[in-house]
This record gives sequence, C-alpha cells and structure tokens, in this order.
Amino acid sequence: MKVITKKSELSSAIEALKKEGKTVGLVPTMGALHDGHVSLVKACHQNNDITVVSVFVNPTQFNDKEDLKRYPRTLDKDVALLEKNKCDYVFAPSVEEMYPEKDTRVFDFGHVGEVMEGVRRPGHFNGVGQIVSKLFDVVKPHRAYFGMKDFQQIAVIKNMVRQLRYDIEIVPCPIVREADGLAMSSRNTLLSPEHRANAPHIHKVLEQATRLTDKMSVEEVKKWVVEEINKNPYLETEYFEIVDDTELQSIRDWSEDNVKVGCVAVYAGPIRLIDNIIF
Ligand code: PAF
Repeated sequence: MKVITKKSELSSAIEALKKEGKTVGLVPTMGALHDGHVSLVKACHQNNDITVVSVFVNPTQFNDKEDLKRYPRTLDKDVALLEKNKCDYVFAPSVEEMYPEKDTRVFDFGHVGEVMEGVRRPGHFNGVGQIVSKLFDVVKPHRAYFGMKDFQQIAVIKNMVRQLRYDIEIVPCPIVREADGLAMSSRNTLLSPEHRANAPHIHKVLEQATRLTDKMSVEEVKKWVVEEINKNPYLETEYFEIVDDTELQSIRDWSEDNVKVGCVAVYAGPIRLIDNIIF
C-alpha cells in the first residue's frame, strides 16, 4: 500500500495501471475511519483491481467552523487500518494541494440539494460537489463507493455525475451499525459518554416507526418520530422527513408506489447525528 499526498503522483500511478487494463475503485473519506468505511473498502476491493481511499477533511463542506475544528483527524491510525484491509493507495493531500486557489464553482443539484441537509447546512453540498469532483478528476475511477448513512449525499453526487457526464458508477453501500444500533459515524467519537449511551434511541425510534404505517398517516408518523426522539433528554430532533429514494420528494401517502426513506438529523448535545431507514 502506498500513501500519496500529491495529485500528480496519484494520477500518473493510476493512469499507468488503467493502461494495463486494471479497474479502479475510489472510496472518498474524511478519515477517522471505522467499520462503516472498512465495509466500503471491502466492497471496492471485491469489484475492482485497484482500491484508492482518499482521506481529506474537506473545509469547503463545513458550514460550521467549530464542526471543522473539532472533526477527528487520525491519519496514522487510518493508514494502519487501510493497510490491513487491502487498500492499494491512500490519497492524503493537504488543503493547499486540493485548493491551491479558492474554488468558486457553484453547483445546482436541483431539488435533491434543496431539502433536508441542503436547507439546514447551507453550502454543505456545494463543498461536497467541489471536493468529490476534484477527487474524480484526479483518480478517474471506474466506480466510487459511498455509505448510505449519508443518503442525500448519494443523490447529490449521482446528480453531479449526470450533469458533469462522469463515466463513473456510484455504488451505495448499506449503513453499518454498532451493536446497540447507532449508525457508525466518525462524529460518534465526539459524543460525551451520556450522549453516546442515549444516541441508539434514534435508530430504535426509526425502527418502531416503520411498524406504524398501517395505524398512522405519514404526517402522524412524522410527528410521532420527532416526539419520541425528543422524549429522551439527551436528544433534540432537527428534522424528520419521509421521502422517495431518488428525487427525495416528500411522501404524502403510504400508498405511493416508490421506495420510502425516513431521514433524521438529531443533536446529541453539540454533536449533530444523521440516520435513515427504509419504510
Ligand atoms: O461522506 C464523506 O465523508 C464526505 O462528505 C466525502 C464524500 C468524503 C467528501 O468530503
């Protein structure tokens, strides 16, 4: 496994491998890797000859400067974990390497970028678009792997791939959970012991909600979820929406013929957690 910090070095290495006919998969991450990331690396390794994992805490996607400051950075541990998990290249550039000048590009992802996280975290998806397109340009992978915890992010990236005509398959991978049900996230390490102990309540409520569809309307279930999560004094729901899985339009009636996903953002103290569940 090679750790590379320069775009030009990675591009040349990958170009040479592609000339030999090798397929290349990319797993973009912001580091502080956990088993959720490992599952992406495994899926990538299974379906590609070469696995590239990027580790870069992207400043342009943080709408909250405090969140950027406290985001965990554990590169040495990440590299050791990737070495054990059949990664071929770790790309760990500096901020100057990825943004030698200010990226002034503004993306329009349409409706999928304008709801839920798009409303609550202004500029977040624009920053995601900026960095993911830069990574795609450097690596030019055949496939790229993203976790479904960031369900809306996948819709946004698919939209970008269509708009910019990237010939890259976007591969969504299932959420990986702790034994108590909490969705794995790099931010979980920032939770206080009390908030960590109470955070699994989020998934428990979502699971219960999926069993209420024959008793309650969509609006009633939405209200119920917010109330149930907020009954826990360590948690405060920011939003809960039930949307279809492609256009992210709000569901009005259970009888609609689409896949329905319940998406939630919850504050556990100062730490913001997101999760989702298929209804
Ligand atoms: O999901 C993440 O970790 C980030 O948003 C991504 C895709 C690596 C871009 O910085």
